[in-house]
Amino acid sequence: MTDVAPAATETIERTLVLVKPDGVRRGLSGEILRRIEAKGYTLAAAHLLDATPELLAAHYAEHEGKPFYQPLVDFMLSGKILAVVAEGQGVVPGFRSLAGATNPTEAAPGTIRGDLGRDWGLKVQQNLVHGSDSDESAAREIALWFPGLGL
Ligand code: RTP
Ligand code: MG
Repeated sequence: MTDVAPAATETIERTLVLVKPDGVRRGLSGEILRRIEAKGYTLAAAHLLDATPELLAAHYAEHEGKPFYQPLVDFMLSGKILAVVAEGQGVVPGFRSLAGATNPTEAAPGTIRGDLGRDWGLKVQQNLVHGSDSDESAAREIALWFPGLGL
C-alpha cells in the first residue's frame, strides 16, 4: 500500500475586519478582537491607522452615490480604525455572523452589533465593525488596507 500525500490545494481563508472609529473611541477594540479569537479564528495582521479619503473611496466604491455615502466616509475619517486580517475556514461568513445585521437595532443579541451597538440617530449607522462580504471582496480589501503584506 502506498501512502497518498495530502492534496496541496488547501487555501487559507481570510477576511478584512475593521473596528470602525466608534468602536475604537468607545474602547471596544479588545472586546471585538476577543470575540474573533474566542470563536477560534486567528489574527494574521493588525494595525491602527487613520484612513484617507482615497482609501475610503476605493474601499466603499460600491456605495458611491447612495444617500449614506458621504456621511459614511466622514464617519470613517472621524478617528482611528483598527484594521485586522482574520483567518480560518469559513471566516468570511463566520465573521459576518459574529458582527450581526447592519442596523444595530435589528442585530441579534449575541452579535457584536446587537450586544454593543445602538442607533444614535445620526445620518449613518455607526455599527462598530466592517467585515468583507465575499472571498473576492476580502482579497481586494486586504490589498487596500495592508498594501505590501503579500497576503
Ligand atoms: P460593512 O460593509 O461595514 O461590513 O457593513 P454591511 O456590509 O453590513 O453594510 P453595507 O451595506 O456594506 O454598508 C456599509 C456601511 O454603511 C453604513 N450604512 N448606513 N441607512 C444607513 O444609515 C446605512 N446603510 C449603510 C453602515 O456603517 C454600514 O456598515
Ligand atoms: Mg458591506
